Amino acid sequence: MDRVAGKVVLVTGAGSGIGRATAKLLADEGATVIVTDINRSGGLETVQQIGGRARFEEQDTSKEADWKRIIEDILAREGRLDGLVNNAGIAGPFPSTFESETVEQWQRILAINVQGVFLGCKHGVPALRSSGGGSIVNLSSLAAFLGTPSLSAYGASKGAVRQFTKTVAIDCARKGYKVRCNSVHPGIILTPMGEGILPNDKAKERVRGSIPIGDFGAPADIAYGILYLISDESRFVTGAELVIDGGMNAI
Ligand SMILES: NC(=O)c1ccc[n+]([C@@H]2O[C@H](COP(=O)([O-])OP(=O)(O)OC[C@H]3O[C@@H](n4cnc5c(N)ncnc54)[C@H](O)[C@@H]3O)[C@@H](O)[C@H]2O)c1
Repeated sequence: MDRVAGKVVLVTGAGSGIGRATAKLLADEGATVIVTDINRSGGLETVQQIGGRARFEEQDTSKEADWKRIIEDILAREGRLDGLVNNAGIAGPFPSTFESETVEQWQRILAINVQGVFLGCKHGVPALRSSGGGSIVNLSSLAAFLGTPSLSAYGASKGAVRQFTKTVAIDCARKGYKVRCNSVHPGIILTPMGEGILPNDKAKERVRGSIPIGDFGAPADIAYGILYLISDESRFVTGAELVIDGGMNAI
């Protein structure tokens, strides 16, 4: 019940799916959680489900001004930041091949999935350092390892997150910042985003059958991996890729 006791952790996109499950688990394990999302009602619902040791702030992770405001506010109110989960992300429309993808869709996906993670690291690292060190978890995807013909911009964005995570990890380690940075790579998880690539029951059963472990993942399956990476149990882990996908990447 106290794997992250006393830590202050910011979770972006925590108004739904994996972010909500992560915020709840971190709070269960003793953290104070700052829940942020572009979706106010979803974020407030997460805070209500936690029922204490959590507060909500509206944030668009693609906007630098929002990051400055959120981080300054945390340092003023909580006095420290120990963990950052760069979870907010978008996919779709599904399917989007490289031939059908528009420049506007491509730029929107990269602005949130890649620029959002870059800004989180840029503004989060100084706050983590000033708190004596900490841990960043970036949500990448199984898509970072594979061709994704039906999600072309999404796959590219998650490949970028995987690589950028290692850059931050090594730069911080070599500079003695005491800030770790790792990526998490979910397979297909039943959230609003995951359901979006399973348009009907037939498609769902076909995809389920292709997962070695025989089923889709749940948001909590990813939250437990993130909990480990935010906790001090992973103090020697940085620049790593934690794949949680029911075996799909091992085929
Ligand atoms: N569900 C899956 O199968 C799966 C697989 C691999 C990776 N992921 C990754 O996990 C993360 C969470 O996905 P999920 O399945 O929980 O999705 P979700 O759609 O259920 O939740 C994403 C949340 O991010 C928020 N968000 C979107 N744009 C934002 C912005 N600009 N600023 C702040 N918040 C924003 C949304 O409002 C939503 O609450 C994403 O980065 C996603 O790419 C999910």
